[in-house]
Amino acid sequence: LDNGLARTPPMGWNSWNKFACKGLNEKVVRETADEMASNGMKDAGYQYVIIDDCWQTGRDAEGNIIVDAEKFPSGIKALADYIHSKGLKFGIYTDVGTMTCAKRPGSIGHEYQDARQYAAWGVDYLKEDWCNTLPNQNSESSYTLMREALKASGRPIVFSICEWGSTKPWLWAGPVGNLWRATPDIQDCWDCKREWGGGGVTQILDLMDGIESYSGPGHWNDPDMLEVGNGGMTTEEYRTHFSMWAIFSAPLLAGNDIAKMSADTKEILLNKEVIAIDQDALGQQGRRVKRNGDTEIWSKQLADGGRAVALVNRGKATESITVAWNEIGYPSTLPATIRNLWTHKDATAKGSFTAEVPSHGTILVRLNF
Ligand code: DGJ
Repeated sequence: LDNGLARTPPMGWNSWNKFACKGLNEKVVRETADEMASNGMKDAGYQYVIIDDCWQTGRDAEGNIIVDAEKFPSGIKALADYIHSKGLKFGIYTDVGTMTCAKRPGSIGHEYQDARQYAAWGVDYLKEDWCNTLPNQNSESSYTLMREALKASGRPIVFSICEWGSTKPWLWAGPVGNLWRATPDIQDCWDCKREWGGGGVTQILDLMDGIESYSGPGHWNDPDMLEVGNGGMTTEEYRTHFSMWAIFSAPLLAGNDIAKMSADTKEILLNKEVIAIDQDALGQQGRRVKRNGDTEIWSKQLADGGRAVALVNRGKATESITVAWNEIGYPSTLPATIRNLWTHKDATAKGSFTAEVPSHGTILVRLNF
């Protein structure tokens, strides 16, 4: 969406993956904002503090949305003001249907009214979900209606489309939203699958392969929010998760308990060299250039002419993985410097580069020729 926003993938935190409906309240959100402003996250680029489902309870006689006063006794305006006072931005959530997935009121029929309310509260980011839609409700026209409502509100608001990839949003959402979910709900696991859709990191890798050309500045494919630090994966797996979201130019929305994160989690979320790959100005989504059994090579072109390359091992044993320059669009005669973005060490090579990649691990490097 060409509204001047999200020229690089949005970064921040969203309440859902850790706190879902039950754990959401203003105390948690304020504490998260406090932490983000002081623990290095804000300096590293994390900006949006987003409340997901369950902040709303009903509508009054005029159709105005009613805030859940048990969870948000001070109201949404006060929360937005607080987040803004920390130098951060505030995001909120709704649904295109009659009810959200957690059965709170949706925005259908109230798009302009809700958008005006969000703007009055100081909302900077809106995520709109796809539950409880009418039979045959059209995704493109529903989200276009909200785009127009947000525009009419007069406030710059990043628009995040969340229809889980179900109607191939990459084909139509470019002019409608700043980002759109390209995948079902992420699960905090390496390769689990759910019958009704959604899965772990490996499933998302496969779903993101092939839709690269639709993503770019202002209009991003969204492989869902981060699970880093939520406990379902090993540190090695979380490093792969974060490395690959950077290769995807994915929105980086932390989904963990920021106030209680471990040193490992912090090291991952605050790795500035990996974040720089995600936020690279060219905004090109990386592609899988090779797959050989359990090993994969992904490559992302960067604004400075270099390449971010991820050597991914999905298997159970350590694997030796080699990337040849001609697999990533460079002649094999060129020397390159190779920066390992997790060990922060430099090396040089000509023609190809080989690394030992641990089980479920990723070697993420930056190559400059
Ligand atoms: C489904 C979305 O995909 C999730 O990210 C989350 O917003 C939940 N709905 C909330 O009910």
